[in-house]
Amino acid sequence: MAKSILFVCLGNICRSPLAEAAFRGEAERIGLNVEIDSAGTGDWHLGYPPDPRAVAVAEKNGVDISHLRARKVGADDFHAFDHIIALDEQNLANLKRMQPPRGKAKLSLLLDHVEGREGQAVADPYYGEAEHFDVTWRDVTEGARALARRIAAEG
Ligand code: 4NP
Repeated sequence: MAKSILFVCLGNICRSPLAEAAFRGEAERIGLNVEIDSAGTGDWHLGYPPDPRAVAVAEKNGVDISHLRARKVGADDFHAFDHIIALDEQNLANLKRMQPPRGKAKLSLLLDHVEGREGQAVADPYYGEAEHFDVTWRDVTEGARALARRIAAEG
């Protein structure tokens, strides 16, 4: 059975769509059969495409994310996904509060999967400059590589 992974940030327009794209690329590269999605804990941008700066950095790295649309994480997600991966500790805390008693999803931070970066956040680039999105891309790529290797090893 394919493992399913949901990436969660605040708005679902910057970090989590980039994490979704980076992880999809990495899963394809190593031949990992997974289902991947992203969502936000906030609801300001529901139905909107990713931030133009996120679309631009993805495109610069060879991925089109312009078709993605923001959605909010819901109770069903804790039953549907094997892993829910938060991009920072604020979102992880919100997810822990929302988690239903019998939800199957394992919660963690993306960078918990990177040796030496456990507990670190992928910083919110929303109020930053275009260069911050390059840092976001580097961080989500590093996290996606480590997470894909870990899930592949779990079998
Ligand atoms: P994201 O970035 O959580 O990486 O999608 C943000 C997007 C929107 C807002 C904050 C962060 N906002 O406050 O609207």
